[in-house]
Amino acid sequence: MKHFLWIFLILCLSFNLVTAQDNLIINTEGRETVSLNGTWFYIIDPYETGFYDYRFKERPETDPGAYWNKLESTKKSDWTEHEFKSPNTINVPGDWNSQDPKFLFYEGTVWYQRNFDKPKAINNKDLYLYFGAVNYEAHVYLNGKKLGMHKGGFTAFNFKISENLLKEKDNNLVVHVNNNRYPNEVPTVNTDWWNYGGITRDVKLVITPKQYIQQYHIQLAQNQDILKSIKKKRFQVEGWIKLNKPLSSGEVSITIPELKLTKKFQASGDSIKVNFEAKKLKLWSTENPKLYDVVFNFNNNSIADKIGFRKIEVDGEKILLNGRQIFLRGISIHEEISEEQRRANSKKDAERLFGKVQELNANMARLAHYPHNEYMPKLADSLGILLWTEIPVYWTIDFDNPEVYKKSEIQLKEMITRDRNRASVIIWSVGNETPVSKSRTNFMTNLVKKTKQLDDTRLVAAALEVHYNNGFNFVDDPLGAYTDIIALNEYLGWYIGTPEACKTAEWKLKYNKPFFISETGAGAKSGYHDVKEARFSEEYQQWYYEEQIKMFKNQFPKSFSGLSPWILTDFRSPKRHNQTYQRNWNRKGLIGDQGNKKLAFFTLQNYYKELEAKENQKNK
Ligand code: GCU
Repeated sequence: MKHFLWIFLILCLSFNLVTAQDNLIINTEGRETVSLNGTWFYIIDPYETGFYDYRFKERPETDPGAYWNKLESTKKSDWTEHEFKSPNTINVPGDWNSQDPKFLFYEGTVWYQRNFDKPKAINNKDLYLYFGAVNYEAHVYLNGKKLGMHKGGFTAFNFKISENLLKEKDNNLVVHVNNNRYPNEVPTVNTDWWNYGGITRDVKLVITPKQYIQQYHIQLAQNQDILKSIKKKRFQVEGWIKLNKPLSSGEVSITIPELKLTKKFQASGDSIKVNFEAKKLKLWSTENPKLYDVVFNFNNNSIADKIGFRKIEVDGEKILLNGRQIFLRGISIHEEISEEQRRANSKKDAERLFGKVQELNANMARLAHYPHNEYMPKLADSLGILLWTEIPVYWTIDFDNPEVYKKSEIQLKEMITRDRNRASVIIWSVGNETPVSKSRTNFMTNLVKKTKQLDDTRLVAAALEVHYNNGFNFVDDPLGAYTDIIALNEYLGWYIGTPEACKTAEWKLKYNKPFFISETGAGAKSGYHDVKEARFSEEYQQWYYEEQIKMFKNQFPKSFSGLSPWILTDFRSPKRHNQTYQRNWNRKGLIGDQGNKKLAFFTLQNYYKELEAKENQKNK
């Protein structure tokens, strides 16, 4: 039976019968929008009273006791047992855990509510309700009618609002949010990060023409010899433009004003292939993150985006950016502002996090373990920081369950759809530290193939598994045969022995591909100083990084192409219970939870300065 289900699912997916957010509107910043951020009302509902009646049967849509229906009590004798009212207010965007002590560990349902007025001048326009992300499951209602539901805590989604549903004033918007963890979800019940619940990212109304450009993708054609194109100063650009609905015939255009370039393409159906030559294009790179204003036009409706043109590829055991070998001086980041114990969700937050990345002299960041908010890749584009971005297929996902595969693939598609035009994103990761088994490798290999099918302009990776064998470390994870690079997390000196273990470690890889350390790190309580052998002292963490760096230099294969140590800042975790040093914090940050740099920060910073100087010398 299970095999039949698998076959059926793969067939569905291949014919796209399983739709993700296929109608996701990208680049909302480049469109006409009305923000719904701000103060909302909430009801904490652990018993799901707003959803089920006293027999625990789902309430019918018109049930006055359903929390999506506003009870207008006109006289004192009226029955009313729910209302959205001060002082129960909450900020959107924002996780609930950080907004009131009663929410810190809360996992369950919270109802959100706010009113909004119909935007002006939207005659003959369409209106969508757009969410940057809701963790984990959202059911959305407007004026008592269900618009839809979405699962997945880190990807954007939108619902179309039919005209007849809208009132001029006080439209009643209610969102049922639940962040309970389940074995058959993505991620599953066990994660080493805080389960921040809520409407964690921006909410906005998006106003569009009846027919409009919904999605697009343009980048350098991957099959061109980039060095030849650089020499000739002529580049092939290709991609596609997707309309929200098919049309019999029409025209779309792409304009790049700085290049004095406009290209027109005949449109029929809903997806138009584009292909054109661009002369004298300045390529996007970490040293020169050149972004062009690109204007997409259809029926006099223009959408502007800022796009960097670059080619990322693997050549044997090297990673090449624009035809030149690059070493990834990275650092891992959770989507968290540790000083305020909350999810990051704004441009200012992105500036704070990437400011620290730049101080470290890094040129790359691993956005762990889920897609971060859209401000991150947009800012990385302008700063020239390369990104690894990942879906939360983390640890012990239910690999035998076709439903779980479908959920993973939906999140993969939503991640790629939103960020496919971001030059900074060079690696899509399909997962982290998933235990090797036949069903896991089948599951993960299908995700790798799907990623390549969706986007051939980037590398595909996953944090793979290692065989540790008394200092002889062998990398033969079967998934490595499919990924473009061999990435793995190693903690020699923290989970295995002390940093002394690095001195004698040998590394052997089954695959001749670029070798990347996607995690390595040790814990330290900021301000705790002791002998280097003392666990959780800053000196121990510094010793760890010193021995790791020696190992990189002396014992790593020549295919070593980069690292993203674990992790930029201490972060909240419900799994860390050392009451002296952790108290629900994972202390592997190079920066403490109050923003203070630990000794190891400077050890890594110096290593990266050394690497950068060598690279500059080589490229002179
Ligand atoms: C793992 C995992 C991380 C975790 C880290 C740790 O490698 O990928 O999410 O936080 O180890 O143990 O600190």
